[in-house]
Amino acid sequence: MIDSVLEILNGHMLPWLPIFRDALDAEYGERPRIATLATVDAEHRPRARSVILRRIDDNGALWIVSSAHSEKNGQIRQTPAAELVLYLPIAREQFRLFGPAGIIGRVDDEAARQAFWATLSDAARASFYWPTIGQPANNDSAVPAALPPDTPVPDHFELIRIQPIQVEHLTTAALPHRRTRYRQSTAWQPEPINP
Ligand SMILES: Cc1cc2nc3c(=O)[nH]c(=O)nc-3n(C[C@H](O)[C@H](O)[C@H](O)COP(=O)(O)O)c2cc1C
Repeated sequence: MIDSVLEILNGHMLPWLPIFRDALDAEYGERPRIATLATVDAEHRPRARSVILRRIDDNGALWIVSSAHSEKNGQIRQTPAAELVLYLPIAREQFRLFGPAGIIGRVDDEAARQAFWATLSDAARASFYWPTIGQPANNDSAVPAALPPDTPVPDHFELIRIQPIQVEHLTTAALPHRRTRYRQSTAWQPEPINP
């Protein structure tokens, strides 16, 4: 009951949120939601890479896990903004979500770090015990393939949180294509724009 009331309220307050969630559920089911995360580096150049969108909160916050040693974490610490883009090939839809971004590390929210660590697959957990990301590779070193949930959370395991202030939804399955923009600054009212 409370859940359905919350869902209706969120659909009203963040009209893009149920559309985004339903589209991801239909496209991916239980499979990983692969997204492209764009950040800005110290020379103001755009950088982008694939990530897994791990969680979407009822307030629209988007969560990704990452290493403190990765470039994206340093870039977000320096320039705390990001855009996440998802293309859904079956539905032929694109979502672009832009907003302030932050890093949640050991000193920020240990409970959240522990909670995300527990939800990772054993293989994803193991990747955080591989040699330091981005350093020159020595392919001789053995790496763990899987680690259980009770493995200690390494200090460099961090969370990235993006709070969208602008969302764009493009559907290309039928003509004419449809593009709708939602902005916090205009109370999230859907704005149809040319695709
Ligand atoms: C399908 C796929 C999913 C990925 N998911 C993540 C992820 O959730 N978090 C992450 O830090 N890196 C992920 N990666 C690796 C990143 O794309 C990237 O190589 C790595 O994070 C280093 O990038 P950076 O130094 O720019 O931060 C993923 C790669 C692929 C191909």
